[in-house]
Amino acid sequence: MEEIRVHPRSSASERRATAEAGANIALTKYWGNADADLRIPANDSVSITLDRTRTVTTVALRPDLPEDEVTVDGRPLTGPARERASRHLDLLRERAGISWRARVVSRNNFPAGAGIAASASGFAALTLAGAAALGLDLSPRDLSLLARRGSGSAARSVFGGFVLLHTGARDEDAFAEPLYGPDWWDVRDLIVIVSRAEKAVPSSEGHHLAPTSALHRARLARVTELNRQLLDALARRDFTALGQAAEEDALLMHAVMMTSRPSLIYWLPETLAVIRRVQAWREEGFPAYFTIDAGPNVHILTLPAFADRLQADLRAMPGVQDVISCRPGPGASIIPNPVE
Ligand code: DP6
Repeated sequence: MEEIRVHPRSSASERRATAEAGANIALTKYWGNADADLRIPANDSVSITLDRTRTVTTVALRPDLPEDEVTVDGRPLTGPARERASRHLDLLRERAGISWRARVVSRNNFPAGAGIAASASGFAALTLAGAAALGLDLSPRDLSLLARRGSGSAARSVFGGFVLLHTGARDEDAFAEPLYGPDWWDVRDLIVIVSRAEKAVPSSEGHHLAPTSALHRARLARVTELNRQLLDALARRDFTALGQAAEEDALLMHAVMMTSRPSLIYWLPETLAVIRRVQAWREEGFPAYFTIDAGPNVHILTLPAFADRLQADLRAMPGVQDVISCRPGPGASIIPNPVE
């Protein structure tokens, strides 16, 4: 497992640490819980941690703060969003036996809530920075378990490269593990931004709705086989097998979403236009597959030799606002505290 080094700064009046983490794109998805309170996913999922979509979070604990203050991209969090971060810090504080409240400052270099999982990089960075500020000496596996309690997909962003998140019967069984480092395979993820709007229904609510779909059970049965295919595809660096498995599970997950009660339709007309373009490229012989999270933006998986050409085509499409070209990236790490 990767080393996660901890260099907090602490004094009698402040304990501070900063961490960085990348978002990840799930090739097989976490959708639906086995245990909602503990955020234990209903199925295993496989992801790639991304190099260019990063979150940097500083946690500064002080004895004199009356409550946690959390700022994301310059905006103070309020209501349930602040409480969620605060509850996550409580988990860490309980472990450390320290009750100091924290000032948390978090910055994303990508639009939050737009189908690029900001909660994954956000809770991975919060977990590492919080643990370091509190002086907790945790293994990467424990950091992943804890990150999962904040956001399921955050368990995967603790690690770099290609990552597997296990479901499990108990809290301590549901953690992510790194399968291969970022240099194992240069697969590209072209993130096609067709909307920067916050999603109407956050993933946390969507997970609760999954069992209301008649297709949920069927997807869970199928995803076990897709995970087997994916692990095999990764070991052999078989891009077609990887792309087919990823695309199938994205469609299965969206079929579950669409047939939930209430129905969740995250796609926009532009989403479908990009899907059709990917299908057309394949007919022309380009290696390209799509996957889509809980939002309208499309991730296109391709190989390095084709990335520039596909990106240029995408940018010319009506409704495409931006394309972020990512590679497999490093896992979460502690970085120097920013100068104030
Ligand atoms: C569609 O991890 O965002 O991106 O635990 O409620 O924060 P919470 O959910 P989250 O769910 C991920 C949903 C997904 C698929 C995936 O990344 O596996």
